[in-house]
Amino acid sequence: MRKVFVKTNNVKKFITMMNNLQNRPEGVPGMGLVYGEPGLGKTQTVNWWAFKNDALLIRCNQQMSSRWLLSEILDNMGEIPSYTTSDCFNQVIKNLILKPQVLMVDEIEYLTIDSRSVETLRDIHDRTNVPLVLIGMTSAKSRLKKFKHLYDRLSEIIKFEMFSKEDIKLIVKELSEVEMTDCAIKYIYTYIKRFRQIVKLLNKAELFAKSNGLNSIDEILLKEVMKNEAETIEINQDTKDI
Ligand SMILES: Nc1ncnc2c1ncn2[C@@H]1O[C@H](COP(=O)(O)OP(=O)(O)O)[C@@H](O)[C@H]1O
Ligand SMILES: [Mg+2]
Repeated sequence: MRKVFVKTNNVKKFITMMNNLQNRPEGVPGMGLVYGEPGLGKTQTVNWWAFKNDALLIRCNQQMSSRWLLSEILDNMGEIPSYTTSDCFNQVIKNLILKPQVLMVDEIEYLTIDSRSVETLRDIHDRTNVPLVLIGMTSAKSRLKKFKHLYDRLSEIIKFEMFSKEDIKLIVKELSEVEMTDCAIKYIYTYIKRFRQIVKLLNKAELFAKSNGLNSIDEILLKEVMKNEAETIEINQDTKDI
């Protein structure tokens, strides 16, 4: 398996969103939301972008308080958090004004339980104007709607969609070291939904090909691999048109 980052349609949409947020006209709020089913590559995409663009990326946890959130941001900035929450807040604001950086917050649904931490994010955005990107599952969008002041500031919202046939072709081409026939690719498109499942399947198919001296995998061989891995690879039960 090759270790490469694949630019799927979702990734392309995300890049456009980041360009829009960074180049927005004066007065337009700079908040974005990325949401969608698990396993479609949201976290991987924001990691990739954050690394390339020196953005701050934090991941929320269950029961994360404002202070905890601020400490994580400061930690990401390489700063030692102050003792009180208000000092931590001022420290974050001061740093972002001196050195503006995009702030990305993954697993945002955890924060929607406590309104204070969500409001803290809004305050950071209002005081510094740095682009703020929230990332979460499908439920994140409806949960955030409850926070009207924050929701109003979202100028970009994108949904990570299920992979298209073209996406699957690209993923297989870029990640798999063993060639897959068109039928095998169609089979993956029909039965596998999530990136993680595809990665697992490609890995197993590669091992199967190596141990059997094969340089190409077709639909029949792929079914064989799937049968052996039924415990670990989840099949999409919804039927799609092949
Ligand atoms: N663009 C990508 N290129 C290569 N592999 C990817 C890409 N996006 C996701 N993956 C693989 O899929 C796995 C699951 O993706 P993840 O970002 O955790 O999904 P989500 O955050 O939407 O639940 C990752 O660990 C990685 O192995
Ligand atoms: Mg994720």
